[in-house]
Amino acid sequence: MQTIQFAEYGGPEVLRPADTPVPEPGRGQVRVAVRAAGVNALDWKLRAGAMAQAMPLDLPSTPGMEVAGVVDAVGEGAGHAVGDEVFGWSATGSYAEYALGGVIARKPDGLSWQDAVALPVAGETALRGLDLLGVRDGETLLIHGASGAVGRVATQFALARGARVIGVAGERNHEDLRSLGAEPVVYGDGLVDRVRAISPDGVDAVFDTAGQGALPDSVTLSGGKERVLTIADPAAFELGITFSSGGDGQTPELLTRLADDVVSGRLTVVQGKSFPLAEAAEAHRLSESGHSGGKITLTV
Ligand SMILES: NC(=O)c1ccc[n+]([C@@H]2O[C@H](COP(=O)([O-])OP(=O)(O)OC[C@H]3O[C@@H](n4cnc5c(N)ncnc54)[C@H](OP(=O)(O)O)[C@@H]3O)[C@@H](O)[C@H]2O)c1
Repeated sequence: MQTIQFAEYGGPEVLRPADTPVPEPGRGQVRVAVRAAGVNALDWKLRAGAMAQAMPLDLPSTPGMEVAGVVDAVGEGAGHAVGDEVFGWSATGSYAEYALGGVIARKPDGLSWQDAVALPVAGETALRGLDLLGVRDGETLLIHGASGAVGRVATQFALARGARVIGVAGERNHEDLRSLGAEPVVYGDGLVDRVRAISPDGVDAVFDTAGQGALPDSVTLSGGKERVLTIADPAAFELGITFSSGGDGQTPELLTRLADDVVSGRLTVVQGKSFPLAEAAEAHRLSESGHSGGKITLTV
């Protein structure tokens, strides 16, 4: 089968097409004929070797942890049948014609392949962050990166909980954030003043999904470290701020809930660029820019 692999850590150019054996599903597993693969920031961080100590890879490695596609082979007791349309986390790299399912659920008819692969990582991470912060009705939450894949989902779920959301994002995404019900501000110098201009008492909690050095400002605005959380800024370790990197929230039930939310219109996803599998390096360049303009996907 056609896959994208990297045999050494490095820039996007190390991503190369390769022919590899089709993976065989083990007990409880399914094989998915991939229709869409999600591109995440973690994919290029792993490829660049930035995570080589924390998450060493066996090279060559095929990137990709989000998959949507059609079940084409099942292991014993897999709980899915050949022909089922599924989505979720893959157990093998999803930048490929076929991948093994990891944690997956049925994809409803009303959910596109592209929207399906936008949900696992962003949905789980957004909910994890809001739960860890304990965001409640009537509170004011500041979200750094509110226009990003994780931040935009977090924005919508926080608003649904009754929170007021101040969303930090690039100006071109402000209208979208306003349409969701958030109050956008631009990032960069002077952020504390801009937030105080619309929320003089500061904020109750801060969810940093951007990882761009805004933790000190976040502590200032929330009046302490207790309710500041980042998923992306390693400065958290020196500053004594919570860095959340995972949990046990990757379940089929969560996937089903996220899919239902999209189908029923409670949650919307902005699609960015979709690339053919062979252009995975371009997809990584766009993700690395930090301004993806929506979910980046590969179509197979
Ligand atoms: N720890 C975990 O469990 C976990 C899970 C998922 C993701 N992550 C990490 O979380 C981060 C975000 O992921 P994502 O998929 O949401 O990324 P994304 O879709 O690329 O979003 C990036 C966000 O950062 C904003 N941004 C870019 N430059 C900025 C700057 N200089 N200052 C402030 N904000 C800036 C962007 O705003 P504009 O586009 O509006 O300019 C956008 O909102 C990545 O680092 C990823 O690795 C961690």
